[in-house]
Parts: sequence; C-alpha cells; structure tokens
Amino acid sequence: MDEVVGTRGAAGVGAGAGNEAGVGAGAGNGAGGAAGTGADARPADEVVGISHLTVSYDGAEALHDVCLSVRDRRILAVIGPSGCGKTTLLRSVNRLVLEEPRAQVSGQVTLRGRDVARMPAEELRRNVGMVFQEPSPFPFSIWRNVTYAPRYFGSTPKRELDGLVREKLELVGLWDEVSRDLRKSALRLSGGQQQRLCIARAIAVDPQVLLLDEPCSALDVNATATVERALARLRERYAIVVVTHNIGQARRIADEVAFMSEGRIVERGTAEQVLDHPRRDETRAFLAGWR
Ligand SMILES: Nc1ncnc2c1ncn2[C@@H]1O[C@H](COP(=O)(O)OP(=O)(O)OP(=O)(O)O)[C@@H](O)[C@H]1O
Ligand SMILES: [Mg+2]
Repeated sequence: MDEVVGTRGAAGVGAGAGNEAGVGAGAGNGAGGAAGTGADARPADEVVGISHLTVSYDGAEALHDVCLSVRDRRILAVIGPSGCGKTTLLRSVNRLVLEEPRAQVSGQVTLRGRDVARMPAEELRRNVGMVFQEPSPFPFSIWRNVTYAPRYFGSTPKRELDGLVREKLELVGLWDEVSRDLRKSALRLSGGQQQRLCIARAIAVDPQVLLLDEPCSALDVNATATVERALARLRERYAIVVVTHNIGQARRIADEVAFMSEGRIVERGTAEQVLDHPRRDETRAFLAGWR
C-alpha cells in the first residue's frame, strides 16, 4: 500500500499523539494543529490515527473533534464519566459507528495510515480485535473459539491450529487451566476465564490493534488481576486500547491515559501525568470523585 500517512488533520493527530509537548495539545480543539509540523509529526509507530472525529446520533454530539493516536506495543487507557463517548470512540475504530444509521460522522480514522472507511470489511475485521464488557464466548468448545477466526480467514494451516491455540491461550494465561479441556464448552469456564478466552479469540489472527471496552467490569478482583496480567503480556505484541472505569487499573496497566468528558479528549498523557498530575480542572474533579 502506498497511501500516505496523514491526509486530513494530520497535524492535529501528530501533535495529539505525541511527544511530551504534544500530549496535551492534541486534546484541544485545533491546538494540535499549532504544532504545524504536518504529517511528519505523527509517530512512526502509530497504529490507529483518529483525526478531528465528530460523531452525532440524531444530531446529538457523542464525540467532538477528537484527535488521538494509538501506538504500537502500548496500552492506552480511556477513562471518563458514563456517557462521555468512550464506547463510541472504540466503535469508530472498527467502523461500527459508520454502519449505524442514526450516526453522522465526520473526520477520519486510519489504521496504519489507511482510512478505515475505505478498507474492505474483512480486512478491517481481521485487523481490529474487540473485546466487550460481558464475556461472550461462542457456545462452542474452547478450541473452536480460539480457532474460529483463523479458520474463517484461512490464516493458519490446519496442522498448525493446535499450536496456535496453545500459543494464544498461553499468552492470556489460560493454557495451564484449560489444556485438558479444549474440547469442552467454553460456557463452562468461569467469568474471568471466559474473558481471557475472548481475548485469545480476538488475537487469534494477530490484529493490528486490540480494543477492550471495560473488560473487567463484570469480574471480581482476582479475575481482574488475571486479565491485567494477560494485557501486560499482550502489550509486548499489540497496540491496545482499554476503556476502563477503574482508575487503579489504568494506573496498573496503562502507558498512556486519555481522559474524556462530554465527547472530548480533555487531557492525555502518560498515566503518571494524567492520574497523578492532571492539568485540567475537569480531570481533577473526575479523579477526586473516583477516590
Ligand atoms: N447507538 C446509539 N444511538 C443513540 N445514541 C447513542 C448511541 N450510542 C451512544 N449514544 C449516546 O452517545 C453518548 C456517548 O455514549 P457512549 O456509549 O459512547 O458513552 P460511554 O462513555 O461509553 O458510556 P458508559 O461509560 O456508560 O459506557 C451518550 O449520550 C449516549 O446516549
Ligand atoms: Mg461505554
């Protein structure tokens, strides 16, 4: 592919993605553009680039001029009050929002520099892994859950499927717990095991980015810890965006944190910057309310 990284709004995205100086700038309306460095300002390891994304449902704005960059082998945690647009943001990356009849969308989302709106659906599905709040394994065996996408896409030769199942289950820390039960129904697993299985299923075709929408909110503390350990391992391989209501979780696992409010990215930076030294009053108020 010879598409150029960064067409519309590239400057804003680059700054938003960015380096120390840009981290805050990209959050603001137009402030990112002030960097004025054009497409070059985008980080070389950007996997998902969101530029000036505005989404409305029946005229009511859910996202406003969002610029954000998701970088390879990092965990970006998205936090913010209920209804601020976190799920809408994730659904914009895998194009579900564009397919929603009530939604009006402007701006651009790119995956490795390519506009997701123009990507073939199968390619997009293959490259964007999604995990939801409620563990939702398919009502099949554990083995079939993990091999579902590789068999669908034909991405792994049949003789290598067993090895793939083991590799992915090891990555999510589930192999030792289920290696003798691979043919048993996934529905017999505990909630935490089911969620790790869903993560294994989502990474079975090695997506470019893994999106998780409050993956632990239905789990207890111990199961949450197993998912967090899994994410720490996956961070070595994938770009990850995790929406979380749990500030402690953001602190434990995130490289970067984006705080959203009323459809805007209010503040973004390293976990330490945003959670321990927030610059904006809105962020401070949100964090104070959480403690
Ligand atoms: N399919 C939809 N149709 C109409 N309005 C929607 C739709 N999805 C989201 N919204 C609205 O868009 C806004 C953002 O919703 P979204 O679900 O993205 O927020 P959220 O931050 O994920 O909230 P929560 O923390 O409760 O999951 C809300 O006002 C919501 O009511
Ligand atoms: Mg949500």
